[in-house]
Amino acid sequence: MKLQRVLQYAQFLLRQTVEEGDVVVDATAGNGYDTVFLAQLVGEKGHVYAFDVQQQAVNSTKNRLHEEGLSERVSVILDGHENVAHYINERISAAIFNLGYLPGSEHDIITKPNTTLKAIESLLGLVKVGGMIVLVVYYGHEGGKEERNQVIEYVSNLPQKKVHVLRYEFINQKNDPPFIIALEKMKEL
Ligand SMILES: C[S@@+](CC[C@H](N)C(=O)[O-])C[C@H]1O[C@@H](n2cnc3c(N)ncnc32)[C@H](O)[C@@H]1O
Repeated sequence: MKLQRVLQYAQFLLRQTVEEGDVVVDATAGNGYDTVFLAQLVGEKGHVYAFDVQQQAVNSTKNRLHEEGLSERVSVILDGHENVAHYINERISAAIFNLGYLPGSEHDIITKPNTTLKAIESLLGLVKVGGMIVLVVYYGHEGGKEERNQVIEYVSNLPQKKVHVLRYEFINQKNDPPFIIALEKMKEL
């Protein structure tokens, strides 16, 4: 298979961007799969800040990190990603979002347009030139299309000399398959 699947491609982008010792953000920790992936990429000297608004997600992420022996290089924060700037005052190299609801939970706690956009804006300030923000956009659930539309509208209007904005999407798949938005920072905003 030559075309990478959406989740593979998200990981490929992060691997291209993140180096050992970096500081990075998992904006939607959920069950912690991306948090573990990022913790492996940054190595012992790096740090991951992982955010989620659900205690269940925080617990699940912490357990997964513990099992993998990676807890020390991660701060798992029970708070919204819109508050990321309250917790981080250093440059990050990358951030990932998985928009939507926590797999295996009720579908009533979902990412929302206002807070997602606020988080993207803050992260664009924190990320260093050459860094990357990756969003995996799930939009099949109730409220998902509204969030998708607002995210597309916002990122489409970012200044092209300062941020390169990519959409990676399979356009013949049924049932609202997720797609990727990747933002590569080229200059300070
Ligand atoms: C699609 S899931 C994330 C899946 C996760 N990346 C994984 O590997 O399992 C989306 C998560 O975003 C969380 N969430 C919703 N609103 C949020 C917010 N404002 N800040 C941070 N997390 C939020 C939900 O609780 C949910 O766990």
